[in-house]
Amino acid sequence: MAFPQTRLRRLRYNSVLRQMVTETHLSTDDFIYPLFVCPGTKVKNPISSMPGNYQLSIDLVVEECKKAVSKGVKSVLLFGIPESKDESGLVACQHNGIVQQAIRAIKNEISDIFIITDVCNCEYTTHGHCGTIVNNDVDNDLTLNTLALQSVSLAEAGADMIAPSDMMDGRIGRIRQALDENGYEKIPIMSYAAKYASGFYGPFREAADSAPKFGDRSTYQMNPANSNEAMREVQEDINEGADIVMVKPALSYLDVIYRVKNEFNMPVAAYNVSGEFSMVKAAGEKEWIDEKRVMMEILTSIKRAGADLIITYHALEAADIINKK
Ligand code: PBG
Repeated sequence: MAFPQTRLRRLRYNSVLRQMVTETHLSTDDFIYPLFVCPGTKVKNPISSMPGNYQLSIDLVVEECKKAVSKGVKSVLLFGIPESKDESGLVACQHNGIVQQAIRAIKNEISDIFIITDVCNCEYTTHGHCGTIVNNDVDNDLTLNTLALQSVSLAEAGADMIAPSDMMDGRIGRIRQALDENGYEKIPIMSYAAKYASGFYGPFREAADSAPKFGDRSTYQMNPANSNEAMREVQEDINEGADIVMVKPALSYLDVIYRVKNEFNMPVAAYNVSGEFSMVKAAGEKEWIDEKRVMMEILTSIKRAGADLIITYHALEAADIINKK
């Protein structure tokens, strides 16, 4: 059949019908809400490049988690801003590390929450790189040791899922082994499998105080021009035991999300990163775009591309819109 028998507009004239034939539905179950935990009490430091986001002390992180759960967003991703840093990020592996304390405090007060912890060295090292430095570069195999220690320590504190974002080779296998040897075989790993060396992380580095003090991350994070290589990264992580694979950033990498979903048929997460969030906020502030509408369009596009889960700073605002429907 062709025009005039076929008229695609027929399904668009009525709003109920449009709703009925909608192919992609966002749900609060899709969202993971990132939070930045810092020392102190009643601390709420605004992150200037990420309006509405703050470095929060543990007491206020607990409050923010309650708010998230009340809106149906039951999963959070924690990042730590430690009291002090060291050469190889060992402060991230301590029983009383900032994230470890936050996990216990949250679990103490909220039962129906799922806590994911980022595992990486960059927030915890003096030089801001994602691992241990040898001869001016991150040493892959040495870094695996601290990543494994950090993961076990976070699981011990009560983390529900471990999310390594460092991009070292072999880290998923190493972390899986360490978790299993310590009795945490039930704790899943969500791997930042295809993580690009991206300009979109700028605002996050202000938020987490994690900008590298020299060089950049291009010896470990991926070249934005490559997608075949992303398939190899994902394949490796699956072989090593990843339970969920992530593509990061999301918006400039929708093709990668689509390929990963189609080629591996695994649960796929996408990280709608800080720079993507900040661009929407900035243009919204200037009233150059309808901020809420663009936010929902972006989140829908990420899901339509194939993401099952979306890590997003928009989580609570988007939840408000979804809950009103
Ligand atoms: C740590 C890490 C980064 C992000 C998440 N985990 C920054 C980086 O790799 O430099 C970025 C998240 C965002 O931009 O929202 N390695």
